[in-house]
Amino acid sequence: MIYLGCFLFLCGLARVMASYPIWWSLALHHQYTSLASQPIPCGSIPGLVPKQLRFCRNYLEVMPSVAQGVKIGIQECQHQFRGRRWNCTTVDGNLAIFGPVLDKGTLGRGWGGATRESAFVHAIASAGVAFAVTRACAEGSATICGCDARRKAREEGWKWGGCSEDVEFGSMVSREFADARENRPDARSAMNRHNNEAGRISITDHMYLKCKCHGLSGSCEVKTCWWSQPDFRVIGDYMKDKYDSASEMVVEKHRESRGWVETLRPKYAFFKPPTETDLVYYEGSPNFCEPNPETGSFGTRDRVCNLTSHGIDGCDLLCCGRGHNTRTEERKEKCHCVFHWCCYVSCQACLRVYDVHTCK
Ligand SMILES: *[C@@H]1O[C@H](CO)[C@@H](O)[C@H](O)[C@H]1NC(C)=O
Ligand SMILES: *[C@@H]1O[C@H](CO)[C@@H](O)[C@H](O)[C@H]1NC(C)=O
Repeated sequence: MIYLGCFLFLCGLARVMASYPIWWSLALHHQYTSLASQPIPCGSIPGLVPKQLRFCRNYLEVMPSVAQGVKIGIQECQHQFRGRRWNCTTVDGNLAIFGPVLDKGTLGRGWGGATRESAFVHAIASAGVAFAVTRACAEGSATICGCDARRKAREEGWKWGGCSEDVEFGSMVSREFADARENRPDARSAMNRHNNEAGRISITDHMYLKCKCHGLSGSCEVKTCWWSQPDFRVIGDYMKDKYDSASEMVVEKHRESRGWVETLRPKYAFFKPPTETDLVYYEGSPNFCEPNPETGSFGTRDRVCNLTSHGIDGCDLLCCGRGHNTRTEERKEKCHCVFHWCCYVSCQACLRVYDVHTCK
């Protein structure tokens, strides 16, 4: 059996080193994300805690969607952060797929990385799992779940039809599976639980009524409607706003009957305290300007920057003031397109020259 190229020793090491889920590496392996393949061998998934292993064995048929969900979460992360210093890069062939970057904040100690970036990745990954499972259920690819039969009510002018997506089931799977390891009494667990839930709530909050018209030439005599999840991009944009406005917290220790428990409290009393939909963190991020194997920063050397932008993707900020190089690049493009009656378009191929700016 393929063991993800991971020898027992290395798996153990990665598990000790990473304070974020090793099982996210599921997302990078086609063998897990493709629905058509063999059942997932639960025992070969790295980094599962016993509760997750049991879940995997009991709900085998939703596991490809769980893996798919982490994958769309990571893809969305990479889209949202594409022009930024930290761009959500995953490290190939490493079980800790983000490298040390989500493990270590500015404190640089082994058990840290409670940064905004980490908050975002947790939220988008757990949202992705809820989303993908919900979608798969509605498409009928699992027998234990399906459409949401409760979401029905009659109104004038249209009738229920199609399949209302059962986001509660998807969220339940995400909660059971993604939060299974977040039961430690420490601050990092509290942070992960909060951000995971924020990600899931964002989906519930964006459910909308999708309708289709029937009738002669689009007359909409009959309209069927069902509850649908939004496009995942909507969730990505929303979570990115939450990243920008994330709440900084401080760690507090309490003595309880079960021992010391860490909880989080807002750092600044004059800011609105975070709601359940806000992201929380308690460690500053490195600036990601220079490569640093300690923090997992790749630095921004050779990254493509935007000369005319004054934002974070602009050459000034992205290159951290080091300046940039410019080269020209030729690209083939369609041009001189002509519309022929009826109905096709023919184009020529032209070479266009572009300036490409990269960080020094
Ligand atoms: C993200 O950053 C890495 C490391 O600097 C770089 O290799 C990669 O090309 C970047 N990806 C995008 C889409 O800019
Ligand atoms: C560069 O930034 C400008 C100004 O923000 C924007 O209009 C333009 O689309 C950007 N170009 C690219 C290639 O992203």
